[in-house]
Amino acid sequence: MNRTIPGRFITLEGGEGSGKSTQARLIRDWLAAEGHPVLLTSEPGGTEIGQALRQVLMANQNTDMVPETELLLYIADRAQHVRARILPALAEGHIVISDRYHDSSVAYQHYARGVPMATLDFLFHELAGGLVPDLTIVMDLPIPVAMERIQRRSVTDPDSVSRFEEEALAFHERVRDGFHRIAASDPDRVKLVDGHRDQQDVFASVRQLIQGILPAAGELP
Ligand code: TYD
Repeated sequence: MNRTIPGRFITLEGGEGSGKSTQARLIRDWLAAEGHPVLLTSEPGGTEIGQALRQVLMANQNTDMVPETELLLYIADRAQHVRARILPALAEGHIVISDRYHDSSVAYQHYARGVPMATLDFLFHELAGGLVPDLTIVMDLPIPVAMERIQRRSVTDPDSVSRFEEEALAFHERVRDGFHRIAASDPDRVKLVDGHRDQQDVFASVRQLIQGILPAAGELP
């Protein structure tokens, strides 16, 4: 573990339609049933201030927001989230699961939109707390499969399709490739999971990864 504070910090990453939100809920329910104190949260929008930032981000997604503005808003959301929610929960010994975190900025704003990595590193460490997760699980699946899933869920979330379709397929391929590079460059922390399987099979893989970083009995309050 990279910190002296108690608790564990797990992040879930992947493209739209990768199934990470479903897995996040399955993880939360499983850990809670095992008696662990758990906090399930997400970015952007894990705090009240973050919710306001999220509205700006989502309203402007795919229109005229420049990548630098977009990045600064995600970093602002993260700075607030880490200090107001994540760190206090970790200090109390919670297992914190975040549906997206800084690797999304690296995949979307650096690899897909071209903001230099040095800029992201600077902002992450100087402004957003620089907290590195204990484990990051990337849900990986082919873009056409993700697209089809989003089309199916459009019945309940009509916005999801239009957002996805407005970005060229090439953009989503760059995001996916970005996550592959992130995993390759930090293999101890970042694990790719094949998301193109039955949800319970995916969860079995996810659970195995998490078991490897869970605190030993008696280690948490
Ligand atoms: P959201 O509706 O939360 O979707 P999802 O179910 O895909 O997680 O949308 C979050 C969007 O924000 C998604 O398109 C990825 C993007 N994003 C970034 O571009 N950079 C970031 O740092 C984060 C956290 C999200």
